[in-house]
Amino acid sequence: MFFKNRNKKLKREMLTQIDRGDVPGHIAFIMDGNGRWAKKKGLPRTAGHMEGGKALLKTLEECMELGIKAVTVYAFSTENWKRPKEEVEYLMALPRKYINKYLPMLKERNVVMNFIGNIEALPEPLQNDIAKSIEETKDNNGIVFTIAINYGSQDELLAATKLICQDVKDDIVSITDINQDYFETKLFTNGLPPVDLLVRTSGEVRVSNFLLWQLAYTEFHFTDTLWPDFNQEELYKTILDYQNRQRRYGGLKGE
Ligand code: FPP
Repeated sequence: MFFKNRNKKLKREMLTQIDRGDVPGHIAFIMDGNGRWAKKKGLPRTAGHMEGGKALLKTLEECMELGIKAVTVYAFSTENWKRPKEEVEYLMALPRKYINKYLPMLKERNVVMNFIGNIEALPEPLQNDIAKSIEETKDNNGIVFTIAINYGSQDELLAATKLICQDVKDDIVSITDINQDYFETKLFTNGLPPVDLLVRTSGEVRVSNFLLWQLAYTEFHFTDTLWPDFNQEELYKTILDYQNRQRRYGGLKGE
């Protein structure tokens, strides 16, 4: 357990409403609102990110308990480099802090650590910690926890296109054989299950260059809650909302 003092009564009551056989297999989170959370409390933006990190670990743990197989979070986008230097440095340092503190526990809890994005362009100490966390959890077979860092979906799609062009040039594939399955092998998310549910906090209703290909048939859930306040109750509400949707994948009801 990462954190104590969770609300056991609420958990029991809401859990009875959740269909444990129909939880989303893969949830992606856009963890938005850290800055506004801090501002409301008269704190520096970095304090919001720190609190956001805690909300992330709690959410991961709740997802594990619900039997969710994969969680992907947007920790730093290719556009976030535009933020003030101090904030960028903080956002680069925070994952290192969490990896160093929680990796033994993540390993023990059978979590598989995964990262998507342009990892080679990150500061070397962070790259090293990323490599360490992947290596140390590679034999686990529990929840796959993917952190999108220096990630941009348009970059990902361009990179995939270039890899495919190279394969064509090298006679590895013919143009007629390029299909959806093949295309997906060229994405950072290769091997991850389909994203069933996207959650964005803080009242913003946009996708912000996150998983553009992967969200094709994903259900979206938007909440006004700021990410550091996202908690067990919010997660349960989110899952219940998801379970009330009818997913048709372009087909008709009941098919
Ligand atoms: C968006 O809120 C949030 C981010 C750009 C960073 C998210 C990062 C974390 C929650 C910490 C991640 C930690 C680990 C361990 C991976 P914002 O700053 O844009 O908020 P605002 O819109 O209110 O300003």
